[in-house]
Amino acid sequence: MNSVVFTIEIHEKNSKEYRKGSIMLNKEMEKAYNDQINAELFSAYLYLSMASYFEDKNLSGFAHWMRLQAQEETGHAMKFIGYIQTRGGRVLLDKIDKPAQEWESPLAAFTDALGHEQYITGRINDLVKLSGEINDYASGQFLLWFVEEQVEEEEAAGEIRDKLELVGDNPHGLLFLDKELSARVLTSAQDE
Ligand code: FEO
Repeated sequence: MNSVVFTIEIHEKNSKEYRKGSIMLNKEMEKAYNDQINAELFSAYLYLSMASYFEDKNLSGFAHWMRLQAQEETGHAMKFIGYIQTRGGRVLLDKIDKPAQEWESPLAAFTDALGHEQYITGRINDLVKLSGEINDYASGQFLLWFVEEQVEEEEAAGEIRDKLELVGDNPHGLLFLDKELSARVLTSAQDE
């Protein structure tokens, strides 16, 4: 008789432990991931708007670079969508804000792009912080990819911004840079 009671106690303890360690997403984390999907899709929208601005200026290399950037951002959103679903969460899409449509110069556009990536880095850092606060170690691991990615994103936008500053008003320099950017390809890691 005693051994039956003992068995039930063990079973209850184990199921409690199971819930504690479940891969099911915490609701706060799920909401934060959904907000991040929106931020990534906005990024894609912003870069498509910049691509359109550059196309209008006949800077097709810059436009190409921005279109690929938009594609990359859509890939980031898809990564979050897939992860929420893997963890048994619910993806809820929200409306996407209207992006800017005009910039004073290519330099102004890339200054905005860099500022936007710095903002996204801050958001990723907040997600990492939240995952630590709620002991979601799986999220901590998942988010490391984005931590690394943001280093590359800021570096890429910052480098082009700096070159544009060097070029100044020199049209030859601008066309040279346009040709350089037309060669951009998505790497498999960026394309994930
Ligand atoms: Fe998805 Fe450019 O950050």
